[in-house]
Amino acid sequence: MEKVLLLLAGVSVLYALDNGLGRTPPMGWNSWERFRCNVDCDNDPENCIGEKLYMQMADRMAADGYKDAGYEYVNVDDCWMAKERGPDGKLQADPKRFPSGMKALGDYIHSKGLKFGIYEDFGTQTCGGFPGSKFFMETDAQTFADWGVDLLKLDGCYSNIEDMTSGYPIMEFFLNKTGRPILYSCSWPAYFVAYKKIPDYKAIAKSCNIWRNYDDIQDSWDSVTEIVNYYAKNEGNFFEVAGPGSFNDPDMLIIGNFGLSRDQQRAQMAMWAIMAAPLLMSADLRKMDPYSKSILLNKDVIAINQDPMGQPGSIILDMNQIQIWFRPVMPKGSAAFAVLYTGSYGTPEKLSLKCETLGMVGSGGYNVTEVFDGRYVGMFKSADNINITVNPSGVFLGKAVYLGN
Ligand code: GLA
Repeated sequence: MEKVLLLLAGVSVLYALDNGLGRTPPMGWNSWERFRCNVDCDNDPENCIGEKLYMQMADRMAADGYKDAGYEYVNVDDCWMAKERGPDGKLQADPKRFPSGMKALGDYIHSKGLKFGIYEDFGTQTCGGFPGSKFFMETDAQTFADWGVDLLKLDGCYSNIEDMTSGYPIMEFFLNKTGRPILYSCSWPAYFVAYKKIPDYKAIAKSCNIWRNYDDIQDSWDSVTEIVNYYAKNEGNFFEVAGPGSFNDPDMLIIGNFGLSRDQQRAQMAMWAIMAAPLLMSADLRKMDPYSKSILLNKDVIAINQDPMGQPGSIILDMNQIQIWFRPVMPKGSAAFAVLYTGSYGTPEKLSLKCETLGMVGSGGYNVTEVFDGRYVGMFKSADNINITVNPSGVFLGKAVYLGN
């Protein structure tokens, strides 16, 4: 990410160094999709937004293999704050739900070898109605740095989108000024899209490590496909600006919750890997079933997501509820490809596809593996046909290692 330092005196604009963060899509956990704005710790102490929830998730991440697989951020989302700022103008956590305070929570998360993420809003209030950062950006950036925050998600409720183009970079300037590396997640483009305006993704990629493009994910297959279909359109060319330090964020992984079948969970994981999306789980890690956990921890899918080139995939074929996506990965000339069947017509689709159609156009041949089960499919040349079976609302995720180097 190229740093834009806006000097608020109004005139000078400096360019500083890259913040070095998010060279591959960030991985972690976020409370929002699964736990929402549940502030009722009296009646629902296990699931309410409070320090206990985040400490328990940090425990699970460290002990159950998530951290070892690469998941590192524990992100507090909305509804963590007290309804008012303190007398000094600083944000404060809700004292009842976070009795030890945010610095202590950050210390706990760090003691597990994990990173601490937090949520604020660019406008006057957060989407949940808590104090926003408008008029307090410098104070808030410093408060977060003092608490040991490693990631800031800056939402855009209760603000004017006209202010975002100059305002989001200003928060980035203040984060930078604290001297603490803080990965910056911007909801800026999602609000432009909501108002049917095309975001300036080049500007966004200069200031933000990750950015939300579209609506919030919900716990359903419809929601997953709506997001994937939006990304397929690539309106505003957002994939072109993505790369190390800057990634599109199609929102959280809902794997391990209530809404997706087994195939649909694989499909979400595969598509998030192909799109080079942040892998931010939002599920109850205390109650994960082994299947969902195995999807989230699958090393070969994660390796595609975390490919060091950081080049996102794109859709190369869209036909009758079958989408083919292609992502270049290392070693050079190799690719990951997803054949996604969004339909629900009972029976698996049997396809015979020319390898060229899947993006395997090199002359040197490819070793193809099905990624989730690690099943070797065979060696193929670009003119060969490959037989692929895809379940309804499911995916075939393939890795094609180029043999021509
Ligand atoms: C917005 C964001 C969500 C979540 C909520 C919190 O809707 O897009 O991801 O942060 O606000 O209120």
